Amino acid sequence: MTRPINHAWQLAQRPTKNIDRDTFALVEESVPELADGEYLVRNVFLSVDPTQRTWIREEPSYLPPVGIGEVMRAGAIGEVVESRHLEFPVGSFVTGLLGWQEYSLLREAVNIVPPGIPLRPMMGVFGATGITAYFGMLEVGEPKAGETVLVSGAAGATGSVAAQVAQIQGARAIGIAGSAEKCEWLVKTAGLAAAINYRTEDVEQRIGELCPEGIDVFFDNVGGATLDAGLKHLAIGARVVLCGAISTYNELDAPTPIHWYLNLVVKRARMQGFLVLDYLDRFPDAVMQLVVWDMEGKLKWRDHVLDGIERAPEALGMLFSGDNTGKLLVQVAPDPTAP
Ligand SMILES: NC(=O)c1ccc[n+]([C@@H]2O[C@H](COP(=O)([O-])OP(=O)(O)OC[C@H]3O[C@@H](n4cnc5c(N)ncnc54)[C@H](OP(=O)(O)O)[C@@H]3O)[C@@H](O)[C@H]2O)c1
Repeated sequence: MTRPINHAWQLAQRPTKNIDRDTFALVEESVPELADGEYLVRNVFLSVDPTQRTWIREEPSYLPPVGIGEVMRAGAIGEVVESRHLEFPVGSFVTGLLGWQEYSLLREAVNIVPPGIPLRPMMGVFGATGITAYFGMLEVGEPKAGETVLVSGAAGATGSVAAQVAQIQGARAIGIAGSAEKCEWLVKTAGLAAAINYRTEDVEQRIGELCPEGIDVFFDNVGGATLDAGLKHLAIGARVVLCGAISTYNELDAPTPIHWYLNLVVKRARMQGFLVLDYLDRFPDAVMQLVVWDMEGKLKWRDHVLDGIERAPEALGMLFSGDNTGKLLVQVAPDPTAP
């Protein structure tokens, strides 16, 4: 029987700074026949995430480094198209670390997508980035009604949901983002109190103007100078949520110094990192709440889809230039759940 042809991106070499055309290699191979206990997923959407830059470093992070010649690790969502595994019948939709490839031949269990939810939001607002925003903001940030919440990377997949989760708690959210269009979307569509364009405005000065009583919760996705600017304006008892530090992922050898660290002492503030994986057993609770808020019209979100497996490395670069508007995905097959 003719077997499907799989195209996959493998890690070819570790970049020292930005990824480039030599970082990954696109390979083609036919999918082998399935053995007992195996199933084959035809991927529909591949996820593109800043953390992938940390996975291709030599040094271990919270997951081991992707090896040279291995398929690039990535979240993905797709449909089971062949199966010799009882729990994953043909026609079911699954999501997990399926890799940057068109077909994933699996033996281990991954997550089954609840019926009735389209695949696209399952990769964003109801997926890892939405869940990160939910737990990071509610469990680490703990915003209260009337408090001031600052979110960096606010127009992105995680930041946009985090800021709105804070507003749903009655807090006043201010976002930092990298274009006039993103700032306008944050205020006019997502309903934030204000937005700071870090490319055209003095971030530290604007934070001071917009948060005269200080920041109660700072949900930071950016790190470096942005983190420092926020630390300067903490309120007493502030919570600084370290979600990520995208401004440093290409520059680990030359990190930006943090000057306002001592403000954590002066303001009796807490700074805490977290990983969404810490909340794995509670993912269904988060998804259920996010779906309800979405149905109630309380969450605005957007995704950004590029077509074709060949665009995955280019997509990863877009996260660092800010060219993505919302959750960045690469579509590699027709979406059977599209309206
Ligand atoms: N802790 C966890 O478990 C966890 C889980 C998921 C994600 N994260 C973190 O959450 C953050 C956002 O990830 P995401 O997947 O939602 O991506 P995203 O925000 O949708 O996309 C990344 C955005 O980062 C901004 N950016 C890039 N370089 C920047 C720089 N030098 N300075 C300021 N902003 C910069 C760009 O927006 P602008 O146009 O505004 O510059 C870009 O659109 C990342 O730090 C990621 O590592 C953490």
